[in-house]
Amino acid sequence: MAVSSDLVTASKGVVVVSKGIVTVSKGVVAVSKGIVAVSKGVVAVSKGLVTASKGVVVASKGIVAATMPLFLSQTTSEKHFLPLNFRAYPLEPKPIRLVSKLRMLLLVTHAIAAAWLLFPVPILMSALFSPLTLRSLTLKNRLVVSPMCQYSATGGFANDWHLVHLGSRAVGGAGLIIQEATAVSAEGRISPEDLGIWRDEHVEFLKRITDFIKAQGCVPGIQLAHAGRKASTYALWRGHGTVPVGEGGWAVVGPTDQRFAPNYPQPTGLDAAGIAKVKADFVAATHRALAAGYEVIEIHAAHGYLFHQFLSPLSNTRTDAYGGSWENRARLLLEVTADLRAVLPETLPLLVRLSATDWTEGGWTAADSVRLAGRLKDLGVDLIDTSTGGNVPKASIPVGPGYQVGFAEQIKREAGIATGAVGLITTAAQAEEIVAAGRADLVLLAREELRSPYFPLDAARELGVDVAWPPQYERAKN
Ligand SMILES: Cc1cc2nc3c(=O)[nH]c(=O)nc-3n(C[C@H](O)[C@H](O)[C@H](O)COP(=O)(O)O)c2cc1C
Repeated sequence: MAVSSDLVTASKGVVVVSKGIVTVSKGVVAVSKGIVAVSKGVVAVSKGLVTASKGVVVASKGIVAATMPLFLSQTTSEKHFLPLNFRAYPLEPKPIRLVSKLRMLLLVTHAIAAAWLLFPVPILMSALFSPLTLRSLTLKNRLVVSPMCQYSATGGFANDWHLVHLGSRAVGGAGLIIQEATAVSAEGRISPEDLGIWRDEHVEFLKRITDFIKAQGCVPGIQLAHAGRKASTYALWRGHGTVPVGEGGWAVVGPTDQRFAPNYPQPTGLDAAGIAKVKADFVAATHRALAAGYEVIEIHAAHGYLFHQFLSPLSNTRTDAYGGSWENRARLLLEVTADLRAVLPETLPLLVRLSATDWTEGGWTAADSVRLAGRLKDLGVDLIDTSTGGNVPKASIPVGPGYQVGFAEQIKREAGIATGAVGLITTAAQAEEIVAAGRADLVLLAREELRSPYFPLDAARELGVDVAWPPQYERAKN
């Protein structure tokens, strides 16, 4: 049972969790003359309220966890304010003292038995496996395959590799797949082998991919990208730095003629016509993406690619309307965002991936990202996919489990917009905690999804949630 901004109420009734999770975001679990009984389970409340009027909150080998919560028990007229940070909170409330241990055990047992009789289907749920609706689009769960370049295209065209790679992750149970950085123009590719969407002919095979993803109950998304000064470089396993023109490379553009690193291409600063072309390319690519069946569009404004290059004072030293002040540096991304929102149907969400910080003195900061996220929200962006880094070669990044989640949390809280968390999230419990505690709305996995395409199906089993498997694989489910 997962409830967002809502109520779970049971009047003279029970809310029962056995080996499962009830999550409430900004809501209330209210029981009047009843019981919240937790046996080996979790009631997770984010910014919510658990009330038991003349009732009891019982935890048997379970936990009631909350962020900024308020626990009320009117039987004792006592209020229990719990700690601010999400953590397991073994409930040791005053109400328990009102019943003997034996009576408590009986209550739990009866409540569980009653619930199982009333609900023959599993009542167990988790925050991670609760649906999320963005505009008119509903994702079946919060697990997202993060965009990952495959460097396996020719002339920008998708092929069997992309179909099988993305298709198998849809079979694996993700709620949303965001296809790799897909270039809006030939000069915007990172490498010669990048996927592209700059020609109408690219659409046909991409449509095959989105059809297959949708047939698995998953939502197909696409990351639209322009690499700017980091274009025309070798695919990861083919080499480092610049691909020369003689080997299939090309002339690259950026905010200025400043290189990313000595072994990277020498860019030309975009002039007014060049900026107009970038904007037109993103609009044309969005029309093609819609024709190809994508239901989520993500603008790639992270990792030191073109929009990030414009945002950061470390890479944008222009002196015209697109450089200098914060407003000027943000202008290109804001203009492209407004253009894309105007093209997209009202029903479909628009995401932006940001690098929340340059991790470098004098660079783009988390405060800048909060400010930008607010502006993007005003333009109709629905979610900020929150990554970091990539704009300067020698940033010192404190890499570790969930090391970027704090930025997603901060942007969500301070800009009031949904966020996705990404970066070294590798276990079901870690992903569950992020969503249950209201730190982010989506969890994106990259390398873990490469290791385990069926991660979502496995995670559901681990969290005690019954999710549908592809019928072809049903016999392996239990
Ligand atoms: C093979 C590979 C390719 C990637 N390509 C992209 C990409 O196209 N666009 C993007 O925004 N991030 C890309 N990333 C970054 C991931 O989306 C993700 O942000 C990063 O790997 C951290 O998540 P992880 O710890 O779950 O791998 C790529 C990562 C990997 C491993």
